[in-house]
Amino acid sequence: MHKVLLLAYRWQKYLFFFIHLLYNTIILLKNNIYILAIESSCDDTSAAVIIDGHVKSNYISTQVVHQHYGGVVPELASRQHLINILPVIDSALKDAGVELKQISAVAFTRGPGLLGSLIVGVSMAKSLALSLEIPLIEIHHMHAHVLAHFAEDPKPAFPFLCLTVSGGHTQIVKVNDYHNMEILGTTIDDAAGEAFDKTGKMLGLDYPAGPIIDKLAKDGKPVFAFPEPQVSGLNFSFSGLKTSVLYFLQKEMTKDPNFIQHNIHDICCSVQTCIVRILLKKLIAASEMSGITEIGIAGGVSANSFLRQSFLETGLKNGWNTYIPSFEYCTDNAAMIGIAGYYKYLKGDFCDQSVTPLARMPF
Ligand code: KG4
Ligand code: ZN
Repeated sequence: MHKVLLLAYRWQKYLFFFIHLLYNTIILLKNNIYILAIESSCDDTSAAVIIDGHVKSNYISTQVVHQHYGGVVPELASRQHLINILPVIDSALKDAGVELKQISAVAFTRGPGLLGSLIVGVSMAKSLALSLEIPLIEIHHMHAHVLAHFAEDPKPAFPFLCLTVSGGHTQIVKVNDYHNMEILGTTIDDAAGEAFDKTGKMLGLDYPAGPIIDKLAKDGKPVFAFPEPQVSGLNFSFSGLKTSVLYFLQKEMTKDPNFIQHNIHDICCSVQTCIVRILLKKLIAASEMSGITEIGIAGGVSANSFLRQSFLETGLKNGWNTYIPSFEYCTDNAAMIGIAGYYKYLKGDFCDQSVTPLARMPF
């Protein structure tokens, strides 16, 4: 008996290779891979169906209960996810014309995010996988934002740089392949989305303020100057900008109590211009340092019209190939989770029923 075990030990790497080969052959012969994806990390409940790497449906229910609170209220968000999750999954399946029994695997956001929100999506994904007896695939929310670039054509070639800008993160990522990514730069305090949302709160705008500032800025000019942070390397900082906007508003309002109402378009345009300038400066530095000219932007803030336009112009000037996902794949959505899930499925990278959500999840 021990001779058999010894032989198995010696040949284990070949055995492993053979099993992997067999697994991939079975996948190819099986033909269609149907991924049901679930995203519930913050205040959007979303489900999507991805067939063979193509988005067939992407249903998003955005919670409006937070708009007057200046930010997401975690307790309200998780309760709202509980109400939304089943109808959202039903709608995603219906939109795709797919039945639950056809699904090959369930992909879900494991983290990072709000724990109470994540629990709803994770529990739903686990229950579905258990009852349908299909594999479960955990996804890192920030990987998925990057892989949103593979939801449509043209797709970036590896390696590429991705500026991922959302409500909780601001990162420059070097994407070596679907599974191998390195953070080259990150924020040392607030995220770019937070800079938009916190400025909006000071201006009395609803949450999320990013899209509102984007709209108001269209009729304004960048007449007010805010200092740019001095942060080393490819890292970012936005908390100083927030403070200087606060002091600026306080000072101006002592002279004119209606300063905000009178200047809302110019204030929005000035803050937006400053944020975009900070982001693009570091992206140019990252391209120069890495020698990579294949570059994309992703995450909620990449929906910003001024960032999109300035990014394309910067790309043109610097000889980059530029990539921007469609609006529906910029802000939180399950299609990006499904795309990430599809590539993990091809690799056979599954998790088991003991998986738990992670509010903080290592990249
Ligand atoms: O990626 P996302 O939907 O959720 C997170 O993972 O955080 O990003 C949300 C962030 C919010 O801060 C929101 O204000 C910002 O994206 N955002 C925008 C725009 N649309 C969404 N910021 C600026 N301009 C926009 N058009
Ligand atoms: Zn996000």
